[in-house]
Amino acid sequence: MIQKHRNLVPHIHPTAWVHPSAVVIGEVELGPYVTVWPGAILRGDCGAIRVGAHTNIQDGALVHTTFDVSQTVLGERITVGHGAVLHGCIVESDCLVGMHSTLLDNCRIGHHSIVGAGAVVGVGKEFEPLSLIMGNPAQRIRACNEKNLKQIDYGWNAYKGYREPFVNGEVEDLPDDWHYWPDEP
Ligand SMILES: CC(C)(COP(=O)(O)OP(=O)(O)OC[C@H]1O[C@@H](n2cnc3c(N)ncnc32)[C@H](O)[C@@H]1OP(=O)(O)O)[C@@H](O)C(=O)NCCC(=O)NCCS
Repeated sequence: MIQKHRNLVPHIHPTAWVHPSAVVIGEVELGPYVTVWPGAILRGDCGAIRVGAHTNIQDGALVHTTFDVSQTVLGERITVGHGAVLHGCIVESDCLVGMHSTLLDNCRIGHHSIVGAGAVVGVGKEFEPLSLIMGNPAQRIRACNEKNLKQIDYGWNAYKGYREPFVNGEVEDLPDDWHYWPDEP
């Protein structure tokens, strides 16, 4: 669902893709090849949400801001894992934000960093580029190594592929009363 909020219409690049069950409202900008997966919510009613090219926002992730306090700005080639909460934060390009992590107002994640699954990044916390960040409260454990940089690259490239069947008409709605149970061989 894509909604206008008062005079604010989402800006969605022609190559960006939003699953029909995702919700995009108001002051939201989705750049080229951005993907927004089932059940994700980007609510731009209290401040801007900007998402750079090739970033994927996975199922059930929630993106919002605090009015007059923060904006959410995501760079390019970022993976936002399932169920992550990004609230008024800045994530620079080439990062992986793990599943169910929470990023609070005005924190900043430097480029080529990983926020581990389940981490909680406090209000206003800043992490330098190439940080591996984990825990609650989130800490920089060490610099990202080669394996971590590959994990970052793998994330956004994989989602580039997962987008294909959806934009090529290979995914279709079935009726709500759909039943099918193949016979045992
Ligand atoms: C952080 C992460 C990238 C692992 O990095 P890694 O360099 O491969 O680290 P390892 O798996 O070798 O783990 C190193 C240590 O950190 C711990 N650890 C790993 N992930 C952790 C996390 N999210 N939170 C807390 N501790 C974690 C491991 O248990 C291990 O501890 P030990 O040394 O005491 O055994 C990975 O665990 C993670 O959280 N990935 C996010 C994946 C995701 O959400 N993707 C998006 C959806 S597709």
